[in-house]
Amino acid sequence: MKRFRTQVGIVGAGPAGLMLGHLLHRQGIDSIILENRSQDYVIERVRAGVLEQGTVDLMNDVGLGTRLNREGLRHDGVYIAFAGARHRIDMAALTGGRGITVYGQNEVVKDLIAARTAANAQLHFGVTDLRVTDIEGPEPRIVFNRNGEPYEIACDFIAGCDGFHGVCRTSIPHELLRTYEREYPFAWLGILADAPPSSDELVYSLHERGFALFSMRSPTVTRLYLQCAPDEQIADWPDERIWSELETRLSTSDGWRPNQGRIVQKGVTPMRSFVAEPMRYRRLFLAGDAAHIVPPTGAKGLNLAVADVCRLSNALAAYYKSGSETLLDQYSDTGLRRTWRAQRFSWWMTSMLHKSDSDNPFDHQRRLADLEYLVSSRAAMTSLAESYVGAPLD
Ligand code: FAD
Ligand code: PHB
Repeated sequence: MKRFRTQVGIVGAGPAGLMLGHLLHRQGIDSIILENRSQDYVIERVRAGVLEQGTVDLMNDVGLGTRLNREGLRHDGVYIAFAGARHRIDMAALTGGRGITVYGQNEVVKDLIAARTAANAQLHFGVTDLRVTDIEGPEPRIVFNRNGEPYEIACDFIAGCDGFHGVCRTSIPHELLRTYEREYPFAWLGILADAPPSSDELVYSLHERGFALFSMRSPTVTRLYLQCAPDEQIADWPDERIWSELETRLSTSDGWRPNQGRIVQKGVTPMRSFVAEPMRYRRLFLAGDAAHIVPPTGAKGLNLAVADVCRLSNALAAYYKSGSETLLDQYSDTGLRRTWRAQRFSWWMTSMLHKSDSDNPFDHQRRLADLEYLVSSRAAMTSLAESYVGAPLD
């Protein structure tokens, strides 16, 4: 058994784990990041695309803004479409100049891996059989195999940044964790297409046939989603069927429609709301999807993960500087407040914009009335805009 020691052992090299490692390094705190997938897999996984203003500000503050500022697409507004018309919500005008930036999660992860490598700090991909042990005591440990050899890392703290299916949350004694969950009777079929985006801003659309979302990754790549059944088989969706359905659900009477192009990636994403509380057990802290999942309609998941690790790194820095545990003790409660706000918003966007098999004509009309109100009331648009651009980081 090879034995090592670190201040903070980080499980998972998604955005939460990598960003935490970066923030700790800047504070002079030692960490080791362990990831069970390969580096290529972690970079190529197609996921989030929308960064809140606070996430962009943090990336700039911590020296990760160069490529983001060059390649990210800053949006001041967003469209909501229904009944054949698009309505623009001017987020910047309604929030004192705040907006969102389209910059793929892959790009964020690439920038973070480059920073970690440049700092010569430890980041290990492809570890197997990872477990956390001794979490009752003052020196929790992470054990795992790497290249067929067993390792053990003794830590002051462990950060569980290992996503919804990770091992950290389930290591906490079951009776001490309260979980809240809702599954949705639909999923999203997402594609990436080699096609220049036909709109400068995102379009969230409710159609009688279901939800569709127009997004993008770059001036040459469009990202599109369709509401589908949770058990949808991708094999049942040849490219022509996808384009025909997107065209039906997204085209508006002003002649706007998405540009078509070669489909380079397809996948089905389930929708779930989930919260585990507390986000801490002794010296084990949960962050990001390990602690909470939101349906993607609010574009909050990655941003919540970043908000968690920003708070956690500040709390750990205060602990190492002065021995104070105040911020560590507040980590969970402060995070849960932000999480529930994001849950509320993501649930609201999801239920307003999706149709469900249990709907009757009343439900469809009520949803249209909700949307009519949204796009005709400055107060309602401000409420959406405030939540969409996100609250400043704590
Ligand atoms: P993850 O990215 O899941 O990272 C966890 C890491 O831990 C993974 O790399 C995993 O391999 C690793 N791991 C797991 N188990 C172990 C183990 N036992 N040992 C070692 N490593 C382990 N969010 C937004 O904010 N905006 C959006 O626009 C948006 N769109 C989305 C669209 C889609 C289609 C999807 C699926 C998600 C979207 N999200 C969005 C959500 C966002 O992608 C996630 O919230 C984000 O990835 C969370 O980051 P994380 O680091 O907490 O978890
Ligand atoms: C994306 O571009 O992938 C995206 C955008 C907005 C969302 C979800 C996903 O709400």
